[in-house]
Amino acid sequence: MLEEYKARTKKSEALWKKANTLFPGGVSHNIRTFGMPTCDAYPPYISHGDGGHIWDVDGNEYIDWWMTHYSLILGHNDPAVKKAIRDQNEIGHHFGAPNEPQVRFGEQLQKAVPLLEKMRFTATGSESTMYAVRLARLFTGRSLIGKSLGGWHGGNDALTYHIKHPFSDTPFYDGVSFDYNDRESFDRMLKKHGRDLAAIVVEPVIGAGGGIPPEDGFLPYIREETSSRDILLIFDEIITGFRLRYGTAGDKIFGAEPDLLTLGKAAAGGMPLGVYGGREDIMSLAEPGAEGGRWVGGGTFSSHPLTMAAGLAVLEQLKSRDDEYKRLNAMGDSFRTRLNDMLQEMNAPLIGTGIGSINFVSYLKLKPNRPIRTPGQLGGLFSARQQDIFQGYLMQEGIFGYHGLGALCFKHSKEDVEKTLLGISQAIERMPKMERKSK
Ligand SMILES: Cc1ncc(COP(=O)(O)O)c(C=O)c1O
Repeated sequence: MLEEYKARTKKSEALWKKANTLFPGGVSHNIRTFGMPTCDAYPPYISHGDGGHIWDVDGNEYIDWWMTHYSLILGHNDPAVKKAIRDQNEIGHHFGAPNEPQVRFGEQLQKAVPLLEKMRFTATGSESTMYAVRLARLFTGRSLIGKSLGGWHGGNDALTYHIKHPFSDTPFYDGVSFDYNDRESFDRMLKKHGRDLAAIVVEPVIGAGGGIPPEDGFLPYIREETSSRDILLIFDEIITGFRLRYGTAGDKIFGAEPDLLTLGKAAAGGMPLGVYGGREDIMSLAEPGAEGGRWVGGGTFSSHPLTMAAGLAVLEQLKSRDDEYKRLNAMGDSFRTRLNDMLQEMNAPLIGTGIGSINFVSYLKLKPNRPIRTPGQLGGLFSARQQDIFQGYLMQEGIFGYHGLGALCFKHSKEDVEKTLLGISQAIERMPKMERKSK
């Protein structure tokens, strides 16, 4: 399998062998195997990037759909972001002390997202969702947390299932779950656990679970139901924030205001950032010595000046790009329409999901069940092997991504889109026969 890929990635293979002697599974983030070991192969080791493309250490070029876990909406190698990092680096890269870029970045974020009455910065999204949950527990005096199945909020113990697979419905610590876009499932959870719930955490668009947008009225519905029970609503906008528009999506696109929200990824253009923030009365529990508060917040690398400087440069550029956002979202939407037309024509048991620039392509469960409403309908989540093999063939076609694809950036071209469609059709043709649906 993947003989062409293996023949042209010898340096990556050598690095992979070495990496396996150092890191469990060869990686420091489980996703970064990109499923390649299933194909008896290894991920490419990336040496550099530009715009919407990256190159591996053997010199092979890829259309990058992964875009640093969807962080680089401006593309790789953005001159303004690089300059901001370089300038800050010249005068000291971190002091572990209050710094001016932190205040300026916070100000810009608050202008873009007025829901952030108060906020805190961390170095990762996982920390920010962890602290948001801690604050919700402190504020409500309850411990149970509800989350949607297939929602990914980082690897912290507050929101990660303590079992093999994050998409299983086995309860996590002090947690219960519901099916996204399914009011009955949500109601069942509330009926059983409503009195004990501190908060519901949900991504406005389910990310890793399949790029699934909310159905009309779903987020306002959970807003209403949580408000009437004094359960806090936390929107995890770590993917959607600054990706679909300049600011957040939950309130401005889908019509529901959370009590707390988290940001990261696109807001700092590839530098390590997490943000948690929202209602002042809740956030004030994070103040040192707050009455009724508890220790919330820390992190040697929080408010890192390089991240703050990069974030400022990112926001400065994104702010003036309303039309560009429209163009990018339209490009993603039209790609998905064409992709799904192509998949139907090929009679392939896959589906393209997403919204705007967020685009995934996943295997369906045996019966094609469209439209996709919940992560559980996507077979790829449960038949990892089939999805991984498809992923491997995409890599061989020079398309770099995970969960099928990932996200477009402002630098991707129409040609990239055409090449991706062609690459996907070729990957499907190469899939072992048994895994293709018969006509
Ligand atoms: C929606 C969402 N929340 C939280 C996280 C965790 O962020 P990080 O990987 O920066 O810890 C991720 C990461 O993929 C994410 O997609």
